[in-house]
Amino acid sequence: MHKKSLLTMNDLTNSEILDLLNDAKAFSSSHSDWQLPDCNQALTANLFFEPSTRTHYSFLSAEKQLGLPTVDFNPETSSLTKGETLYDTVRTFESVGYKLLVIRHPQDEYFKELESIQVPIINAGDGKGNHPSQCLLDLLTLYNEFGHLDGLNVLICGDVAHSRVAASDKEALERFGANVRFSGPKEWEREGYPFSDFDDSIEWADAIIMLRIQRERGAKLESLSDDEYLEKYGLTKARYARMKEHAIIMHPAPVNRGVEIDSDLVESEKSRIFEQMHNGMLVRKAILKRALGYEPFGRSEV
Ligand code: CP
Repeated sequence: MHKKSLLTMNDLTNSEILDLLNDAKAFSSSHSDWQLPDCNQALTANLFFEPSTRTHYSFLSAEKQLGLPTVDFNPETSSLTKGETLYDTVRTFESVGYKLLVIRHPQDEYFKELESIQVPIINAGDGKGNHPSQCLLDLLTLYNEFGHLDGLNVLICGDVAHSRVAASDKEALERFGANVRFSGPKEWEREGYPFSDFDDSIEWADAIIMLRIQRERGAKLESLSDDEYLEKYGLTKARYARMKEHAIIMHPAPVNRGVEIDSDLVESEKSRIFEQMHNGMLVRKAILKRALGYEPFGRSEV
């Protein structure tokens, strides 16, 4: 595997994470027009084997802003339909000249099959395993809001069992000294994840990250309607009213309005959900730049 691949947050030291956040901030200010030098343009492919709006199209936006020539792979019109494997598909892209691959796949740790691939791979989400670019945009959103991660109280609520965002965020936030708690239905508790009742942790949290029910990964609660789920486990207006004055709401999205969060709260004063999406584009520019071997701009912004 290429040393500049980004598969899990474990691939990054804390210092490298700060460099990426710093570069992302620079892309929103001092380096907003920065592009890769022409001679180093690298043919890039986005291989999404699972639906995506934010991750796919923010990588695409980031690639185009950096000046990268880029293509989108469509599994439905590819030789996957003739039985070709993930490995042979990726090996084909490498063989025909692609220099950088962004991959999302429903299989946990799909990248373990790809260890012999020599071009950098950026993991855009693997099953319920990892979502490093989402984690980095979450860290940037928290940095922008609070100026630090150390000592922050972060509550992650909902379908924790099937969420790669919960997994990546827990790992990175704890490394930076944040306190992370989880809440949600008992059925979706995860070993090693400290769970508490949502209502007992609302006043504790500086940031509340709501999670969608990942029905595509088999998550279901037989006996609850959407309204009942919202009342029992979701962010209602009554719970919102109990949040700390400075506390914020986050959500990786897509949001199922009226299920895990009251629709009116999605764009409420405390919500940073659409800022997260903007930060995702900035962070992905930084990830692409790193993957192509460019040094960090320098630690001045974060
Ligand atoms: N947050 C996230 O990964 O969204 P998409 O599935 O739309 O990419």
